[in-house]
Amino acid sequence: MIGEALTYTRRIARTLRRGADDPRLPPMPPGQPLIGHARALREDPVHHFVRWGTTVADVVRLSVPGADLAYVFHPDGVRHVLQSNAKNYSKQTRAFAKMRMFLGNGLVTSDGDFWKRQRRIAAPAFHRQRVEAFGDTMTRATADVLARWEKVPAGVSVDVGRELMTLTMRIASETLLGKDLSDTADAVGDAITFLVKNTNDRITRLVDLPLSVPTAENRRYVAAVRTVDAVLTALVAERRRNPGGHQDLLAMLLEARDEETGEGMTDVQLRDEAVTIFSAGHETTSNALAWTFLLLARHPGEAARVYAEVDAALQGRTPTVADLPAMPFARNVIQEAMRLHPPAWITDRCAIADDEVCGYHIPAGTQVLVSPWATHRDPRFWDDPEAFDPDRFTPERSAGRPQFAYFPFGGGPRICIGNAFAMMEAQLLLAQISQRYRLELAPGAHVVEERGVTLRPGPTLPMRPRLRLAAR
Ligand code: HEM
Repeated sequence: MIGEALTYTRRIARTLRRGADDPRLPPMPPGQPLIGHARALREDPVHHFVRWGTTVADVVRLSVPGADLAYVFHPDGVRHVLQSNAKNYSKQTRAFAKMRMFLGNGLVTSDGDFWKRQRRIAAPAFHRQRVEAFGDTMTRATADVLARWEKVPAGVSVDVGRELMTLTMRIASETLLGKDLSDTADAVGDAITFLVKNTNDRITRLVDLPLSVPTAENRRYVAAVRTVDAVLTALVAERRRNPGGHQDLLAMLLEARDEETGEGMTDVQLRDEAVTIFSAGHETTSNALAWTFLLLARHPGEAARVYAEVDAALQGRTPTVADLPAMPFARNVIQEAMRLHPPAWITDRCAIADDEVCGYHIPAGTQVLVSPWATHRDPRFWDDPEAFDPDRFTPERSAGRPQFAYFPFGGGPRICIGNAFAMMEAQLLLAQISQRYRLELAPGAHVVEERGVTLRPGPTLPMRPRLRLAAR
């Protein structure tokens, strides 16, 4: 521990010294003695990012014990890191190391040739045509939720955050893993919720005790990983025994063979990809929808436009993928919800070699942070950034806006592999739910932004499903 603390102190001193004598480096906003910007990053990073980006520079240097950090605000800098020079930026960062503790070496956390191969294998499962075939599964699962809400007595609220989490989990497990895991949804859901939240705590605290130290928190962590593993390992074992005629992602992973050796994936690799896709594939979409319903409840004018559009496009039918182009406003509402509350609100990379971003020198080894939450509020590209205004996403108003002013799905080679899947799912669910219900925020509900690895409205989202007149 003492050794670790000394190393941190030396690194901070080095970072500060380097700032004094290298004018090419990005400027450093004022920080606190000894801990630099650690508290700002732990307590309220996103508001600081916006403040630094709008008042200090497009790239700022931050000092945190144990790391050389740079935060990039401008869309051109974000494009450089995620896309144009992506090969210089690895996922060898503290944050991804903490995620690896439960996701293992799957698509989100792996790097280099290993990642490239896994992405190549998984990509066909996410092609548009393949994804569109999942539409029916999505609406069937949603119909079950709507039927359940019919039994909710008037005036009683449901936790829409939890309802959506269970629904998207069922959809992810049926479409990607070929099995409805919702009978274990509560246990797995609770375990993943804990892991995701706890991973964030581990990323932001200065010293994190290894799992081998049996603290109460570590024991709970290990138990949660076991819960998730038990379900997914059993699933992989069952599919090895009975491959059947499945068309899902798991089938593709099971069939994949190394081009050179002809070997298939090991059980560990399969487990890592299954946990990754399962975790990445439901919590983000569920949070995007939860924000969408919360914003619509707070903006009845926009909600009325969604209802009118959905009623006109569907004429009372269950939505299909073919209906989606006829509901552009609903799509813009989802995009605007993800602008204000991007579920994946931050990511980071490690610079492999020296580089230059927005004219500033970035030394090799720097951890580079980008945050859609903050860049989505850059007043140079967004008028009145805090306002909920879905029409910002009409083609006319989007013209001329830099691509990376808006990046809820990341960008470049590591762009979210499930983005078409997620947008389709979000649009279908929004249309199908809005066709039948107006979701009203329960009186007295106090909902805030909870920032873990993903961003969710919490601690709960109590809403009352009110049958809409048109649907009666
Ligand atoms: C609204 C929903 C979603 C959002 C906002 C979202 C966001 C993101 C972002 C920002 C990244 C890039 C992270 C980085 O660059 O560090 C990412 C990667 C990824 N996402 Fe999503 N995602 C969503 C839904 C999904 C779905 C539905 C799936 C799977 C079905 C999925 C699977 C993945 C995977 C596997 C990666 C890693 C891709 C790679 O590096 O090759 N995501 N996602």
